Amino acid sequence: MWNPAQYERFRDERKRPFFELLARVEASVPTQVVDLGCGTGDLTLVLAERWPTARVTGVDSSEAMVAEASRRAAPDRVRFEVADLARWTPPKPVDVLFSNAALHWLPNHAALLSGLVSQLAPGGVLAFQVPANFNAPSHRRIDEVRAHPRFAATLAGVRRGHAEVLEFYEACLAGLGLAVEAWETTYLHVLPGEDAALQWLLGTTLRPVLAALGPEEGRAFVDMLRPLLRADYPPAERGTPFRFTRRFVVATRRGSAQP
Ligand SMILES: C[S@@+](CC[C@H](N)C(=O)[O-])C[C@H]1O[C@@H](n2cnc3c(N)ncnc32)[C@H](O)[C@@H]1O
Repeated sequence: MWNPAQYERFRDERKRPFFELLARVEASVPTQVVDLGCGTGDLTLVLAERWPTARVTGVDSSEAMVAEASRRAAPDRVRFEVADLARWTPPKPVDVLFSNAALHWLPNHAALLSGLVSQLAPGGVLAFQVPANFNAPSHRRIDEVRAHPRFAATLAGVRRGHAEVLEFYEACLAGLGLAVEAWETTYLHVLPGEDAALQWLLGTTLRPVLAALGPEEGRAFVDMLRPLLRADYPPAERGTPFRFTRRFVVATRRGSAQP
């Protein structure tokens, strides 16, 4: 379902929140680091560089993404696994549980976070970033086309992705005894290329939709969506301005980290 090449297309824009999240993680010498929803693995390797003595595991449910990640030259202490992050359990307590742009694909964030926190070592950090643009014109347009009688039945059970508000994450993680920092950032990307908003969405949001529809219906879906997105995101000579909000959380379990 995931297409590494399409996802990589706006790599600089998608990388930036990863680095902004990483900058807020204070973990001096972690031994176990996990990247949940690691995708093509290039950013997992950044985690390995940031903590040069840690064992780093990238977990992703997409075989295509993990195959791409596994082709990268990486030190022996880095490994990649195909698994659903909601069910995967680490062999040892984790010092840094990191997730960039993946948790929004999973339902029930209260239960999810509680499960993830239980994997943390004392002093361990859970750091994640999720897109928070589910009410943006792009998503409203996708919803509009999803509701069309031609597609509605096929897409009824296809997940849309969601993020909770910052207050939810803060209360949930503080309730589990963690010290929480949470913030939100809105970027105004100026995307290069033709139909840039559509191309952006083809790398992420539209993947499950197109996988469910199959090639022919998928093309019809995109043909219906394209003019709507052109109207909402008109291109300028310098590129297509594309507003995108993301939420960030860094939560630290109390207790001392292992020496
Ligand atoms: C938008 S990409 C982000 C990839 C990477 N973290 C990055 O920042 O480049 C989302 C990734 O989450 C993965 N994903 C979605 N649901 C998942 C799940 N339940 N378990 C593990 N990975 C999942 C997808 O396969 C995809 O590679």
